[in-house]
Amino acid sequence: MHFPNLNEAKIRSSKKVEVITAKNIKSETHKGEKYFLKTYGCQMNVHDSEEIKAILENLGFTETKVLEESNIVVLNTCAIRENAHDKVFGFLGRVKHLKREKPELIVCVGGCMPQQDSVAKLLKDKYPYVDIVFGTHNINELGTMILNHHDTQEIEVYSIEGNVYEGIKYARDSKISAWVNIMYGCDKFCTYCIVPFTRGRERSREMSDILNEVDQLVKDGYQEITLLGQNVNAYGQDLKLGYDFGTLLEKVALTGIPRIRFVTSHPWNFTDEMINIIAKYDNVMPYIHLPLQSGSSSILRLMGRRYTKEEYLNLFTKIKENIPGVSITTDIIVGFPNETEEDFQDTLEVVKKCQFDGAFTFIYSPREGTPAAKIKDNVSLEVKEERLQRLNKLINEHSLMHNKEYLDKTVKVLITGPSEKGENKVCGYTETMKLVNIEDANEDIGKIINVKITEAKSFSLDGKKEIFINN
Ligand code: SAH
Ligand code: SF4
Ligand code: F3S
Repeated sequence: MHFPNLNEAKIRSSKKVEVITAKNIKSETHKGEKYFLKTYGCQMNVHDSEEIKAILENLGFTETKVLEESNIVVLNTCAIRENAHDKVFGFLGRVKHLKREKPELIVCVGGCMPQQDSVAKLLKDKYPYVDIVFGTHNINELGTMILNHHDTQEIEVYSIEGNVYEGIKYARDSKISAWVNIMYGCDKFCTYCIVPFTRGRERSREMSDILNEVDQLVKDGYQEITLLGQNVNAYGQDLKLGYDFGTLLEKVALTGIPRIRFVTSHPWNFTDEMINIIAKYDNVMPYIHLPLQSGSSSILRLMGRRYTKEEYLNLFTKIKENIPGVSITTDIIVGFPNETEEDFQDTLEVVKKCQFDGAFTFIYSPREGTPAAKIKDNVSLEVKEERLQRLNKLINEHSLMHNKEYLDKTVKVLITGPSEKGENKVCGYTETMKLVNIEDANEDIGKIINVKITEAKSFSLDGKKEIFINN
């Protein structure tokens, strides 16, 4: 048994990060049995689930999408907002029924939620049918925990600063587009955010390890990689080896992988060199997710974001001017404590100026243990909801406006798979990360093709494959 502690999770020392070789335990113990895995949260969790899949498959399990068919259930959870919690506890209700019918079912809860002491304690006190609880720091131990599991509940969650695992095996969801971790954790401590507590300190993988992984993905025929970190701009700073995100991006571009993306860029330490490298290499996609959070400098200060409204606007303009055709999306929180109508107007003003290609918008959700949770949450839910609606209306107008700019144009689309919009359709993304649905292009899955855009909607485009006739 090991319980987390949020106060310990805050510690940032100068202790050297340990690089650990991942264990890849193989066993046939669970051959013929099925796993059901559900993932909540950000891309980081989606990628962690690819590790969880490999661990389960190494023990003999195969995947099922039907909960009732499973012998083991794994929930990889997110703690970013209260509704993420609610979803997980709601789902656990369903699992409880199943466990009653099938007592041998193994139930595992991992990821960011159990990193919070209150959640780990709640799972112990109120959810005895959850067999295994693990955190973000010991995903690699999950195989051992399953093999050693008997009847008692096992809780192993560590509030450590964090290590770096190398040699992790992933069962990747796609053969076309792959996630690549470049760093873990976060040291920014934005006052509202739980991530620095659930994921530990900022720690980068060495550049050679990342490049080896990318080289292998190129050999395996991958068309696209997305470099992952909570703030990719900070890449390399902790290693003190003389390289940074710009250096890495350039080296990755030179591997020749057709498409490179990265998330997320904090507006802080976004250097001119990074902008130049994105502009210089055709395989670095002209798409940047640049979270704004608020357009009011006083709210930004309360949020601990380390930039002002003007600094954000200057960076935005610089990026637009230097990277031809770049699309920029953002994240915005409404209803942060003390946000007045005037502050919110500042946010609307920035949104009007930037005309983002898209945005994820959220109502502020206090997270226990974060500094903001100590400030009185004095904006009523009614006001928060009303602000969110006004903001979304504007955001959607801009995204439709940008999508309309694509009408009748021919763009390059990487076809990623079947579309949800009908049997005969496939879907893919433009270089600028616009979703396109295309008819009659089934044979092009995994390829980058030219597509003529025929219709523009708020959240997607329709297009036709362009056929060249050689005379
Ligand atoms: N590292 C990324 C963000 C990861 S979390 C970055 O800094 O850009 C994704 C988004 O969730 C954040 O950008 C923020 O908009 C939102 N978010 C984080 N904590 C939140 C909270 N307590 N309430 C509401 N939204 C939150
Ligand atoms: Fe959270 Fe801020 Fe870190 Fe992003 S940069 S993960 S919002 S603390
Ligand atoms: Fe959620 Fe953890 Fe990601 S809290 S947003 S899954 S880092």
